[in-house]
Amino acid sequence: MFNSVIKGLGYYVPENVVTNEDLTKMMDTSDEWIVERTGIRERRWVNDDKLTTSLMGTYAAEKAIKDANIDKNEIDFIIFSTLSPDYYFPGSGVLLQRNLEIKEVGALDVRNQCSGFIYAISIADQYIKSGMYKNILVVGSEIHSGGLEKTSRGRSVSVIFGDGAGAAVISASKGESGILSTHLHSEGKFAEELAVIKPATTFWVDKIKNDDDEDGSGYYPYMNGNFVFKNAVVRFEQVIFEALNHSNLKKEDISLLITHQANLRISQYIQKRLKLSDSQVYNNIMKYGNTTAASIPIALTEAYNSNLIKKGDIVVLAAFGSGFTWGSALIKW
Ligand code: ACO
Repeated sequence: MFNSVIKGLGYYVPENVVTNEDLTKMMDTSDEWIVERTGIRERRWVNDDKLTTSLMGTYAAEKAIKDANIDKNEIDFIIFSTLSPDYYFPGSGVLLQRNLEIKEVGALDVRNQCSGFIYAISIADQYIKSGMYKNILVVGSEIHSGGLEKTSRGRSVSVIFGDGAGAAVISASKGESGILSTHLHSEGKFAEELAVIKPATTFWVDKIKNDDDEDGSGYYPYMNGNFVFKNAVVRFEQVIFEALNHSNLKKEDISLLITHQANLRISQYIQKRLKLSDSQVYNNIMKYGNTTAASIPIALTEAYNSNLIKKGDIVVLAAFGSGFTWGSALIKW
């Protein structure tokens, strides 16, 4: 039986920095409100039409492959997680395969929003442990900026989200370290509490043509902010303990907790509930906003590059988001 280790990491964010001050020119908001409610000070928003979700994922993947020190043709499966794909279909995994110019390996798209990266590494882990694949490229990439309502009406959502991509090469290993467990959940009864409903097959071409939604408000993300917040803090805590209990570990054993960067207040609430020290938690939402499926791999790469993770460390990843979906991964580094 093999273990799955994270052999390489990489991330890419667009160059264009959008500060809270910049947002005040588009909508009725303030740096003070955004920092106090979300912790976000700036985010990256793509300002180049050529930069797509799959291309940003490609840039992150190239760095992860380099970091893993393998040839790109040693990749034998691709898992691409995004809620903001280049096309309605085909998925972004095949575009990544094309961009990387690698052999005709399988490419799977994962549609689990903020939990997407956890779902993706869970799938990768099972393929590696079964012996089917040796090196799986897992990517989370998002371009939110094009789909946000950047007006006062959309301010409670649009100030939160940013663009970016992160990637990991997950490889088979015979050692003791690696992904010890993953835990996935969903609760579809709250699907519409955080969602983009249109366009889709329930609201498709004929309906779009006759849509009297002249200002297009139905096409922007809807989020029941307070409700999402309350569910997120409960589910994060549950799924972190589920991971610890599975390996007979205690919260004191956590070397580093990286939660999906949804909102700094959510991360701080979890830190307080678990009584974790500042050195046990990594947050970077202040710089990038909420980048959904990309947030965990971006934060993990930054933490790793800053030498905050060393061999033998217990690293816990946890996410909650639209669906609702949530999950965790416990890794012995
Ligand atoms: N700037 C200024 N004022 C604003 C803004 C803004 N950007 N957005 C909303 N407001 C106003 C509202 O209109 C409201 O005004 P009113 O009192 O006159 O009606 C007031 O601020 C309070 O609004 P609330 O929505 O109640 O503010 P709240 O404290 O709940 O904060 C927030 C909103 C930050 C979205 C919060 O609900 C939250 O953190 N929710 C969690 C969801 C989350 O983090 N989602 C991230 C994506 S989902 C995920 O990744 C899991």
